[in-house]
Amino acid sequence: MFAMILLTGATGYIGSHTWVELLNAGHEVIGIDNLCNSSEKLLARVESITNIKPNFIRGDIRNIDVLRKIFQSHNIDCVVHFAALKAVGESVEKPLEYYDNNINGLLQLLRTCNEFSCENFVFSSSATVYHTENNPPYFENMALGPVNPYGWTKMMSEQILRNFEVASLSTRVAYLRYFNPVGAHASGLIGENPLGAPNNLMPYIAQVAVGRRELLSIYGGDWPTVDGTGVRDYIHVVDLAKGHMAAIDYLTQQKKSLTVNLGTGVGTSVLQLVHAFEIASKKKIPYEIVSRRVGDIAVSYANTDLAKKLMGWSAHMGVDQMCQDVWRWQSNNPSGY
Ligand code: NAD
Ligand code: UFG
Repeated sequence: MFAMILLTGATGYIGSHTWVELLNAGHEVIGIDNLCNSSEKLLARVESITNIKPNFIRGDIRNIDVLRKIFQSHNIDCVVHFAALKAVGESVEKPLEYYDNNINGLLQLLRTCNEFSCENFVFSSSATVYHTENNPPYFENMALGPVNPYGWTKMMSEQILRNFEVASLSTRVAYLRYFNPVGAHASGLIGENPLGAPNNLMPYIAQVAVGRRELLSIYGGDWPTVDGTGVRDYIHVVDLAKGHMAAIDYLTQQKKSLTVNLGTGVGTSVLQLVHAFEIASKKKIPYEIVSRRVGDIAVSYANTDLAKKLMGWSAHMGVDQMCQDVWRWQSNNPSGY
């Protein structure tokens, strides 16, 4: 077990669920977030679930002085790096903000890790790094080729980390390529809380079900899939959080880097997800089929064998559970935190 883990982007969606799992497993954790896409109200929720007061610093990871202070006062030997901007469409409109935040943030973190000899790093990468001409399921050794600035920041970050590993021989990195994280903690106390209109399918469905939005627009009904709608590999955020614990164990025990997909290996269409949510929520989800969204692909899902083989980890929860947990969170917190 590490002396202390630094979580960046700790109050965000995936960060907060991982924080809970780490605290419940007895890890010492300090979280940092600049709250550009999250709320400090989350902290009390984490405390209610874990009975531990979370150790939190409000700050920006691009500010190296803030990072140095944290490393000076805590014996950090592992960083789990979630902090990033993540909206694909926004990244096309504001590429410089995305490169500044996601790349510059990573560089400052690595400089600090180097100064303080912190040798273990877990990185939030994404299925979006895979080249769209690959045929799913995606394997980790397939060609990479992002198609938007957000995706490029993830691929470049992987490359920066790989170069850093060569220069700093003792550094070990877990490159975790997430598929489509959805779901919420079983307590209903924490969940995805997008600010403004959701970009992603599941939070949009949930907001329609709770009455915050009238109608779901389904982007395309003529994809070459089971029912004409896009297919994705939805993974429960708590399974994903546990994937981070498995990666941390791997780094500690094997003392080696690894690159793995975190998905379920199962594809679900938009209409299949809508129907599963209708059953979980007992609400009708009105929808209309509109034209395809620019940049979308028909099908994306993971091959998950490598994560199972190397870390002994696999996702356990299916789409029905994901919908039930999202509905508990959304109906208990119709306006978020
Ligand atoms: P999120 O927006 O909920 O969480 C990210 C957190 O980082 C936010 O709380 C935000 O305030 C914080 N942050 C951003 N820039 C910061 C900075 N410079 N300094 C300090 N804090 C900063 O997003 P999430 O869904 O929890 O995603 C976490 C990570 O996983 C991101 O790196 C994202 O790119 C990656 N990822 C997410 C998905 C997804 O669909 N949610 C898929 C693949 C990869
Ligand atoms: N969709 C709709 N209506 C909506 C939103 C989405 O029909 O209002 C459809 C999309 O066309 C797609 C599916 O629902 O077929 C899933 O879309 P999401 O936006 O939820 O997810 P994506 O797979 O497009 O992208 C997500 C993240 C990316 C990440 C990628 C892979 O947004 O950042 O998963 O991890 F890179």
